Amino acid sequence: MKRALVLAAALLGTALSPAAPALAKTAYDGVWLFDDTPPTPGVTMMEVTSKGGKIAGTVTTKWYGPVEMMNPRIEKGELKFEARNLNDKEHLTRPWSVALEDGKARLKGRIWESEVDSTGYKGKSADAKARAFQFSTLAPLGAPIPSKIAATPPMGWSSWNKFAEHIDDKTIRAQADAMVSTGLRDAGYLYINIDDGWQGKRDANGVLQPNEKFPDMKALTDYVHSKGLKIGIYSSQGPRTCAGYEGSYGHVAQDAKTYAAWGFDYLKYDLCSGEWFYADADTVKRSYYEMGAALQATGREFIYSLCEYGRFDVGSWGRDVGGQLWRTTGDITDDYPTMAKIGFDKNGNPDWAGPHGWNDPDMLEVGNGGMSADEYRTHMTLWAMSAAPLMMGHDLRETDAATLAMLTNKRVIAVDQDAKGAQGKAVRKVGTMEVWAKPLAGGRVALALFNRGDAAASLALSPADAGLASVSQVEDLWSGARTAKLPASYTVPARGAVMLTVGG
Ligand code: GLA
Repeated sequence: MKRALVLAAALLGTALSPAAPALAKTAYDGVWLFDDTPPTPGVTMMEVTSKGGKIAGTVTTKWYGPVEMMNPRIEKGELKFEARNLNDKEHLTRPWSVALEDGKARLKGRIWESEVDSTGYKGKSADAKARAFQFSTLAPLGAPIPSKIAATPPMGWSSWNKFAEHIDDKTIRAQADAMVSTGLRDAGYLYINIDDGWQGKRDANGVLQPNEKFPDMKALTDYVHSKGLKIGIYSSQGPRTCAGYEGSYGHVAQDAKTYAAWGFDYLKYDLCSGEWFYADADTVKRSYYEMGAALQATGREFIYSLCEYGRFDVGSWGRDVGGQLWRTTGDITDDYPTMAKIGFDKNGNPDWAGPHGWNDPDMLEVGNGGMSADEYRTHMTLWAMSAAPLMMGHDLRETDAATLAMLTNKRVIAVDQDAKGAQGKAVRKVGTMEVWAKPLAGGRVALALFNRGDAAASLALSPADAGLASVSQVEDLWSGARTAKLPASYTVPARGAVMLTVGG
């Protein structure tokens, strides 16, 4: 008997005495409450137990729910552990620590871009219950959701690139006004999209309310509709959107109904904090399906824009979950290197693009001032050649003449909006030059000649670039000049572009 006990104690790694230190509770045991941490990741509490000498615990965050402590241990009086990290293959986990300071718990750690250094105070189990994260479950995938809209790439404006979170009802109405007065609406730009930053809190029934900057969403959508425009809204399948606002996690069907009741026509659904919960192809897909099905169930027609930065070959399943466009990349910024990297190299697999489903290399920066006229011309040419959605991203009230001419060029827009819906691609690369071709409905072909270098360069285009035996009609889309044959060569300024249509 005694021998068995000794053996059991040895196996447990403890001494026989009940007062053995390894069995003692740690000073960290219990519930610790955090009230004022920075919103990302928004720590709400920490729970620690040390049953049988084994420490376990979680740090609950608004972004990621409970983050489990891995390998928790006491070292030099501090509680140390590792926690799962994301978006960083070099750091799949990050070290965290907790120190006791004047009876409070100082928690330090990091997840992705969020640095935590926060102090919590002792709470009770009732507090833990009140702050417990409510997990939501995902249904299996259902039948593909049919889409009859977006026969050509959606066109419009979104608030994010220029205004980020600094948006309100008045600004959105003013953009709708400017969309009409500039002639942009009549050039084809239809959607006024509110991106992140409109959300307030949920009411007692869980219905999401806009924040105080948007006093009446129904009145706002009515106003935008009265201008002959459509209007879009934004959310995430995570608990928090990318800018830290309330996401749709646990409220997906309810939110879809709310957007429909308010009169929205378009939803951009951005993975954001959802990437913690939906980290593989299957769950990401199901999480998009969940909202796609919820939008469909409202009976209202929505353009559904998937924003998960091109993960898991989204183009191959974007249509099945109800999407008409899907982001192929991380965020654009208003500078040539970022725009070029996205437009040339991260604009999505052309095989997936076509009527009712489009690769989305992100919104336009034309008019925001960070690129030269030649660079913006390259931006617009690339997006049109790619059959990309054309979502403007500048303050429409400040559209100068050159910007307006670029954004309303009918010939360029016609290539983007061509009924065949083919996504153009590079057919030839020579030094710093790239030749792109996009077949159009009716047999003509759009050709673009890009100079990615920092000095002007020349190159001749040939009918073969367009897959034609000969060319008898050439239209320079930026200038409008028409000729019967291709010139001996084109000289393209540094970072500039030439765009043509040719016919046999
Ligand atoms: C992500 C998206 C952006 C924008 C912001 C809003 O970064 O990729 O397009 O919607 O979130 O927070």
